[in-house]
Amino acid sequence: MEILHVSAECYPVAKVGGLGDVVGALPKYQYELGAIAKVVVPAYRNKYYDTHEFDVVHQAGMWLGHDWYHFNVLKERNNELGFDLYLVDIPGLLDTPGVYGYPNDTERFLAFQIAVLDWVNEWNHQPDVIHCHDHHTGLVPFLMAYGYKYERMREVPSVLTIHNAQYQGQFGWDKLYLIPSFDLWKAGLLDWGGAINPLAAAVKCAWRVTTVSPGYLEELYQQANGLEWLINHERAKTVGIINGIDTAVWDPETDHMVQANYDLETVAQGKGENKQALCERFGLDASLPLVSFIGRLVGDKGADLLPEIISRTLHELPGEVNFLVLGSGDPHVEWSLQQTRHDVSYGFNLHIGYNEALSHLIYAGSDFLLMPSRVEPCGLNQLYALRYGTVPMVRSTGGLKDTVTDFGDPNGFGIRFNQAGVWDACYSVKRAVELFNDTTHLSEIRLRGMRLNHSWGRSAQQYLDVYNSMKG
Ligand code: ADP
Ligand code: GLC
Repeated sequence: MEILHVSAECYPVAKVGGLGDVVGALPKYQYELGAIAKVVVPAYRNKYYDTHEFDVVHQAGMWLGHDWYHFNVLKERNNELGFDLYLVDIPGLLDTPGVYGYPNDTERFLAFQIAVLDWVNEWNHQPDVIHCHDHHTGLVPFLMAYGYKYERMREVPSVLTIHNAQYQGQFGWDKLYLIPSFDLWKAGLLDWGGAINPLAAAVKCAWRVTTVSPGYLEELYQQANGLEWLINHERAKTVGIINGIDTAVWDPETDHMVQANYDLETVAQGKGENKQALCERFGLDASLPLVSFIGRLVGDKGADLLPEIISRTLHELPGEVNFLVLGSGDPHVEWSLQQTRHDVSYGFNLHIGYNEALSHLIYAGSDFLLMPSRVEPCGLNQLYALRYGTVPMVRSTGGLKDTVTDFGDPNGFGIRFNQAGVWDACYSVKRAVELFNDTTHLSEIRLRGMRLNHSWGRSAQQYLDVYNSMKG
């Protein structure tokens, strides 16, 4: 079976969040199960592009509306990721240092999708599955089904994985001319709420629709940022598959980005050394419990609640707990976190920005990882935290609910709370502080979390089952 994953991110080539982690890991595990998994992402001008060798495997040009663009498809020469990696290079559109956030993102990702389809259309065989991830690749299933140029691909099964339905990539019908010509009778399939909606189009046209946890799929039937009716309508082809983690990258025993490696037996010592390094770097007291947050500083992650959670806790429990935040995002949240650091004289520090190595050290050196998410389709942070012996404190939603149990329950290994609000989160911090002070109980809970197996094996097989279910 040959699978082509089409995505905007793939770790370590390009990563903004969990989408990158998933697309960088799942294909490796599919390979191990005997499938040939390939990945195609844009050729951003980043460190990976600058430091690796590629061969040009396809050269062509395309119209994007009235503009003509040359493009190349590059293949990574040494297959060092454990799967075939292809980059679509479109000078003038995709040759940006970053992944998202450009004024012409609609044109950039449309061109990416057209280039991928033009290229695959020229293959002398066809893949068994085209697997699209999120709205940036959402027009692919539609064009495979109805684009005049892509008639050869009509029978190729397509899968959409929704990593986050909050983002749908809508744009106005005035940009219809950018989409390669298709059977206009089918134009309604592109529409949702009067706009062209790539995520909605993919939900309608992909042969199967998966999302990244069963819990989130249940939520989508009720609340999908306007797509709930559609997702209910397409219910028969939906399935929730929980994400795994890449246990080769995320392993406290071998991780080269942490200060001290450790395993089940040496966790207390190893975590202590990492915590010491972290606390020295950020001016925190290593004898206190360390509660950290890592992630995009946006409302969906509940990041706007952090300033009040932190200042209220430090007021109520002075000198009893430390907080550390790593993230970037909404400028207002960044500003209010900086303001909070200024206001509270001790017990809190932050790093605004994206820093992969620091994130590993925080997973390793923290006692607790706070995730007050309003929306969390899967969440990988809590899975990394568990593997590193860090107790996750999560709001019970989506994938967090599927993967974390409360330590108050039999065999529980985390802290759960119900509302994405300051009171609930502060109460959880109090529980965390109490747990920290009960060393025996804490170490038992830590070990329970570390013993869990969140490797991709099972989920990778579930994806193969989905592909197999589409066979003639
Ligand atoms: P999402 O994809 O919604 O951002 P996930 O929990 O699935 O959330 O994945 C987030 C990934 O991004 C994790 O690997 C996390 O460690 C990483 N990450 C998020 N923010 C940062 C940051 N500022 N620096 C380093 N890594 C980060
Ligand atoms: C999205 C979701 C996150 C999920 C990730 C990978 O970014 O917000 O919850 O873990 O995709 O599937």
